[in-house]
Amino acid sequence: MNNPLLEIKNLESWYGKVKILNGVDIHIAEGEIVSLIGPNGAGKSTVLKNIFGLIEKRHGEILFNGDGKHINLLNKTSQQIVKTGISYVPQGRSVFPSLTVQENLDMGAYIREDKKSEIMHDLNYAYEKFPILRQRKNQKAGLLSGGEQQMLAIARALMLHPKLMLLDEPSLGLSPKTKFAIFEKIKEINKSGVTILIVEQNARMSLEMSDRAYVLELGKNKLEGNAKDLTKDERVQHLYLGGAV
Ligand SMILES: Nc1ncnc2c1ncn2[C@@H]1O[C@H](COP(=O)(O)OP(=O)(O)OP(=O)(O)O)[C@@H](O)[C@H]1O
Ligand SMILES: [Mg+2]
Repeated sequence: MNNPLLEIKNLESWYGKVKILNGVDIHIAEGEIVSLIGPNGAGKSTVLKNIFGLIEKRHGEILFNGDGKHINLLNKTSQQIVKTGISYVPQGRSVFPSLTVQENLDMGAYIREDKKSEIMHDLNYAYEKFPILRQRKNQKAGLLSGGEQQMLAIARALMLHPKLMLLDEPSLGLSPKTKFAIFEKIKEINKSGVTILIVEQNARMSLEMSDRAYVLELGKNKLEGNAKDLTKDERVQHLYLGGAV
């Protein structure tokens, strides 16, 4: 791939003495939606945590093309990584429950040093994408429904005006209708210019909206390719597409 936005090369990482990633390779071009699927415990969340600088013990390379410069994220802190244009929506609903919706969104932009008018523009964009959040803007985030909290977590990540958004299981625990709505929003966000790396249990829905995908098993690449081709792959069908949406 010519000049990928993100390139992970031979990534190994450990929790204490336990090795979790055994050489992961992933590349993502600007504008793509890429899915990372695989069984529980395969290391999917660990890959995202590595990109976001949350893992201490690791080897390999994570190269990010930030404004034409190749930055090795392995040497950066999360604070620095945020500034390169990467936002992260962790697994589970990561809103601040005792803050209002508006305050949660303000927190999303706390690190930005650009003009207030640009931040306001992104706030408007987030509210346009998720009108329910505008209606609830003075309500405490902890009182929102599960789906609304997930929307808020994504909206907050948008407040960084990211180039790349990392999403860990955004549909987990939501009703089919809400899942569908969240996936639609992710597609729209991607169309507006944000590259997406998404970890999903719901392989069928995430493969449908993705350009490419990786299957991770035991901390290693197992399969990779065009998402449509993978949907037809017998192994993927058997292991990940057997269940209902
Ligand atoms: N903070 C931690 N300390 C020690 N071990 C951990 C920690 N976080 C995860 N692990 C272990 O690392 C392995 C990979 O976990 P990870 O969360 O990356 O998997 P996953 O593919 O995201 O799984 P799931 O689909 O269940 O979310 C698992 O065996 C898990 O128990
Ligand atoms: Mg996980």
